Amino acid sequence: MKVTIFGTGYVGLVTGGCLVQKNHEVICFDINVGRIENLNEGNVPIFEPGLNELIAKGIDSGKLLFTSSSKDSLKNSDIIILCVGTPDDGTGATSLKAIESCAKIISETLDHSVPVLIKSTVPVGTSVKIQNLIHKGLKERKMDILIPVASNPEFLHEGVAISEFYNPDRIVLGTQDEQVIEVVNKLYKDVMPESNEILVMSPESSELTKYASNAFLGTKISYMNQLSQFCSLAGANIDDVRKGMGPDPDIAPGYLYAGCGFGGSCLPKDISSLIHQAGEKGKDLSILKAVRDVNENQKRYLFSIASGLFNGNFQDKKIAIWGLAFKPKTDDMRGAPSLTIIKNLLDSGSKVECYDPVVSKDRENFQIQNESLKIGLDPYEIVKGADCLIICTDWSEFKNINYEKLGRLMNRKTILDGRNILIPDEAALNNFEYYDIGRTKIDQT
Ligand code: UGA
Repeated sequence: MKVTIFGTGYVGLVTGGCLVQKNHEVICFDINVGRIENLNEGNVPIFEPGLNELIAKGIDSGKLLFTSSSKDSLKNSDIIILCVGTPDDGTGATSLKAIESCAKIISETLDHSVPVLIKSTVPVGTSVKIQNLIHKGLKERKMDILIPVASNPEFLHEGVAISEFYNPDRIVLGTQDEQVIEVVNKLYKDVMPESNEILVMSPESSELTKYASNAFLGTKISYMNQLSQFCSLAGANIDDVRKGMGPDPDIAPGYLYAGCGFGGSCLPKDISSLIHQAGEKGKDLSILKAVRDVNENQKRYLFSIASGLFNGNFQDKKIAIWGLAFKPKTDDMRGAPSLTIIKNLLDSGSKVECYDPVVSKDRENFQIQNESLKIGLDPYEIVKGADCLIICTDWSEFKNINYEKLGRLMNRKTILDGRNILIPDEAALNNFEYYDIGRTKIDQT
């Protein structure tokens, strides 16, 4: 099939790159001319394992094209997939500016019937709204063609997006149009889930499925995070509790890991958007408000422990941070708990030095620029003279910690493990003061 993708962000590039490997011809359109030029030279603007190679392979095969001409991208298209950004507009609501401008381009340019899939995460009712916008535009042009709009949310996780695209746990499609169902079955015929079925439902249910899924994952995490704080006080171990809960298929093992808070471009934004959408209909999603509040509190938890250690006085203190990205295998800093911790530390007068295996490489463009903040390229260089080391991201390289080297370099041998990746007994054996998320008891006296 000839596939047109609008948007060359994370979702658009993964979708385009993977579909080319499944024998489709893909043309990606973006209004960002510089980005298109870079992509045509094989320069991928985001870090995702395997994506560079996938894009290069696609370009070499001649089946993956990038263009900033909407007209070229839509020529002979069999299906259009919208993968443009739908950010928070600053009030918790979702901005549909990019999606609406896609609708405008489509209705002003297309000259043949073709279905549109909305892959971007959009509020309930958006597919119908976009369908109406496109039809209005077509009517003004007196074009007698059909452009059905369906919802087809994506459920990929950053860091493992490519393998998940090839082996999806489900494909959700929101449409009542039989022809669209047929085309979408053809599109995904080589990347079907184990059930070999696409879950077809109304566009509204499909749109909500996406929010409900992400909000539920956030709910699981906040529940475990809040329990973890109780564990530290009561002498229970949140990791053992997790292991005891996970085998129950009604609970499921994923997203039960306590940590220093969840981040990313999806969970926090989608939870806020869902709260906002329900609020507009007069429904108070109080559960999700609590999930959000618990997460904000959790992002401050490690700072509060550090503050306790130094009696609230961070003057002349240096804190080292390992891990900046919101999770490993990505350079994505959106909503990262490390940002909250860094801001809290800087506001308190502390010096901060950070290291991240990927984010450090682009340290000149780091979003917080402050004379008390340094970002280094070596994990041990940055701990020199530090009074405390905080681990914010569970990069696997941090598990192979060299306690002896660390102990020699640090001023005070203290570790706050925000991802529970170290073994508490090993830290104790190496004479480190060690705090984690709900595994070691905190003395309240
Ligand atoms: C999330 C969803 O998990 C995907 O299903 C969804 O497709 C995607 O958003 C999206 O909407 O595009 P992602 O943003 O890649 O995926 O991040 P996650 O892997 O879900 O991690 C989110 C945050 O939760 C991270 O900060 C991670 O460290 C944290 N987390 C995750 C925990 O603290 N505990 C856990 O048990 C799991």
